[in-house]
Amino acid sequence: MGNFMFHGVDTVKLAEKYGTPLYVMSEDFIKERCKEIRDDFLNKHSNTKAVYASKAFLTKEMARIIKREGLGIDVVSGGELYTAIEVDFPMDKVILHGNNKSVEEIEMAVQHDVGRIVVDNISELDLVQAAGEKFDKIVKILFRISPGIESDTHRYIQTGQVDSKFGIPLNKNSIKKAMEKANSLKNVELLGFHSHIGSQIFDNENHIKSIEVITNLMKDVKRDFGFITKELNTGGGYGIQYAGDDERKPLSYFTDEIVKEVEKRTEEYGLERPTIIIEPGRWVAGEAGITLYTVGSIKEIPGVRTYVGIDGGMPDNPRPSLYQAEYDAVVANKINEEKTDLVTIAGKCCESGDILIWDLQVPELESGDILAVLATGAYNYSMSSNYNKLRRPAVVMINEGEDRVIVERETYQDLLRNQV
Ligand code: LLP
Repeated sequence: MGNFMFHGVDTVKLAEKYGTPLYVMSEDFIKERCKEIRDDFLNKHSNTKAVYASKAFLTKEMARIIKREGLGIDVVSGGELYTAIEVDFPMDKVILHGNNKSVEEIEMAVQHDVGRIVVDNISELDLVQAAGEKFDKIVKILFRISPGIESDTHRYIQTGQVDSKFGIPLNKNSIKKAMEKANSLKNVELLGFHSHIGSQIFDNENHIKSIEVITNLMKDVKRDFGFITKELNTGGGYGIQYAGDDERKPLSYFTDEIVKEVEKRTEEYGLERPTIIIEPGRWVAGEAGITLYTVGSIKEIPGVRTYVGIDGGMPDNPRPSLYQAEYDAVVANKINEEKTDLVTIAGKCCESGDILIWDLQVPELESGDILAVLATGAYNYSMSSNYNKLRRPAVVMINEGEDRVIVERETYQDLLRNQV
């Protein structure tokens, strides 16, 4: 028979020990990815920095791992920042993002000496200046630029197109206003630019186009304002393997060309080569995770399809219903059995759209089987909800064959904790 082993750990035993649904994350895998970032980016190319986009998956333990691995962290809210603060994350390695940061979030960041604030729009500059003044600090910022590039991914995870809520639009007037304003503020120090064109991107062409656009901007702001760009944050977005045709790419596939393009363009324009920063999230955490479920109801509609009900669904993985994301899965307790049947994996919410996988090839299933959905490490736990008052699963971290709980399973009491 045989069980599905994930990084040396028997997943059926994990399901027995901790119950389902269960998020399982592999520290071994996360560390491998961090090592690849160090070996193939940080140590390979001089004057570079890497921050993990924590929105993909953040718990206190994840922040500790990233801290030990020596990377920085990108946060987009007071909550993510608070998590980093709670584990004594080196604050100079933290970057604060967000298209509508609150005064409270900006003050929290300034008070804790966060390394960079990526200013998303011109009006935010006043808030950053006010916080700098209040705490008597010079706040180091980058401008997020919307480069006007439509990346090849689902519309909901494109971010660099002209019509986007993110970033300062790339037109002369907006750039002039932003540059002049930053220049006039005593407690703000502009160091450079940031752009992020989208997520789950395989083709590097648009990353390169965005470098073209931003280095061109660097040239213009030097000419028009005498501004020397010291830092260029190129965002994240590197695609990972989910199901079907998605093809895993090494980090260097993306970053070698990005670095090359920055060097080529800056040389051509007679500019200093800035520090190059990357912000991968999904690429670090996505394939590190799986979710274990128990099979419950099995309903065959003759000549139509067979629905297999599992004990989780869109509250623990909203990506199929939000982005039509496709996942692969295996039956963990029948890993060596022949896949004879075609089924549809249905979540347990009162929503017809709560389908995790349409048309999955499986061995003959019965109630009680354990289903392992693959590559759920990014944007699953972090986007989970309590819809239908389902309790969030526990998160178990495995490392070198050992397992430990890093987030407890929610209880019914947890669900009502804040209610009067
Ligand atoms: N940097 C910035 C400024 C970002 O906005 C993002 C993602 C990243 C880095 C990291 O992107 P990654 O390397 O993880 O692709 N919930 C969606 C993804 C939203 C991504 C938002 N920004 C999903 O589940 O596909």
